[in-house]
Amino acid sequence: MELHKTTILLIEDDEEDYFLLRKVLTKMRNANYELRWESDPEAGLSSMLAGQHDLCLLDYRLGAKNGIELIKQARSLGYSLPIILLTGANESEIDILALQAGADDYISKENLQEDLLRRIIRYAIERKKAEREREKLISEQLAIQELEKKRNEFISMVVHELRTPLTSLKAHAQLLRKRFLASGDEQVVRTTSRMNAQINKLTDLISDFQDVTRIEGGKLQFREDYFAFDELIAELIEEIQPITEKQLLLRDGETNQTVWGDRGRIGQVITNLLMNAIKYAPASDRIIVKTTATSDTVTVRIQDFGPGIPKDMREKIFDPFYRLTDARQHAISGLGLGLYIASEIIHRQEGQIWVESEEGAGSTFCFTLPIDREHVDEQKEAVM
Ligand SMILES: Nc1ncnc2c1ncn2[C@@H]1O[C@H](COP(=O)(O)OP(=O)(O)O)[C@@H](O)[C@H]1O
Ligand SMILES: [Mg+2]
Repeated sequence: MELHKTTILLIEDDEEDYFLLRKVLTKMRNANYELRWESDPEAGLSSMLAGQHDLCLLDYRLGAKNGIELIKQARSLGYSLPIILLTGANESEIDILALQAGADDYISKENLQEDLLRRIIRYAIERKKAEREREKLISEQLAIQELEKKRNEFISMVVHELRTPLTSLKAHAQLLRKRFLASGDEQVVRTTSRMNAQINKLTDLISDFQDVTRIEGGKLQFREDYFAFDELIAELIEEIQPITEKQLLLRDGETNQTVWGDRGRIGQVITNLLMNAIKYAPASDRIIVKTTATSDTVTVRIQDFGPGIPKDMREKIFDPFYRLTDARQHAISGLGLGLYIASEIIHRQEGQIWVESEEGAGSTFCFTLPIDREHVDEQKEAVM
């Protein structure tokens, strides 16, 4: 078997010590060392920087120069291979200094046993290798983070630039609609209504994008207060019903609860689930919104009678940009962000969100929320 050759650069001004080391290294069984010798520290430093070796063995006493100085000099010049300092007798104090200067290990010349020397050499080389790999990984991660930050900043800017003209467009369209509403020209009223609907769609898409960049930048904010849960449900059903003629939004149950949380964000989740039910279950004639409560949670279940969701996709659809590739659904537009944002909101509000489904028989999107997190927290604090 051919052994991997390890090339060692030895910087040692004492010829006798060189011969001693060469003897120890070359007689080792199951090892293949090539020794290169430099007796002069300056020449030694040049050889170090030339880098044609795997490891450097360096004498502490190098005539006028001391080994620690040489280590510092080499490290400051970017030398990154392992260095082992050779110390004489009665020089046990310098070990820490050597490590601080950038040595990887040290060995006393008094103690040049085969096994020890071999282990020290191997460990120093392997440790350095692992260290370099770690550093590489860290710098790669930093680069990725930097890139993600740049991407987020870019999206924020795009979102802002898109939003400004859209807001103004929306105002103009509304103005037009009002004018023609008074004039009684139904054709124009219908057209402006459609314009409004399309503008709203764009606005929602942009909002989703903005929310995702906020989530990823850790900047999604919540404005929390107590609100009447049933009222929110009723309001949203009333608001969304006109969007669809075919599907009837049916309310089932009441919670009679006042919930602590961000009403707007929780409403955003319900809107999203209802819009999905309308979008993805176009053939069904009803969508059931069922609400229940226990003493400390409310639960919402939004059931449609559409195509349903295959079992292995029921978790994935909550991932960002994830959409089912089914041909029927492919024609329906969307970015795959709605459920991701919904799950982030529900989790941040300390609730749970999931989907129950039977393929071909529809989906039921459910979430639960704690009714009164603030009091729960106060109780926790009281116990502590
Ligand atoms: N009610 C539903 N019935 C069937 N499939 C659904 C339903 N709701 C969501 N999906 C699937 O989950 C995917 C992700 O939904 P969502 O995150 O809201 O993004 P988008 O609606 O923009 O595609 C959808 O593309 C669709 O494939
Ligand atoms: Mg959606």
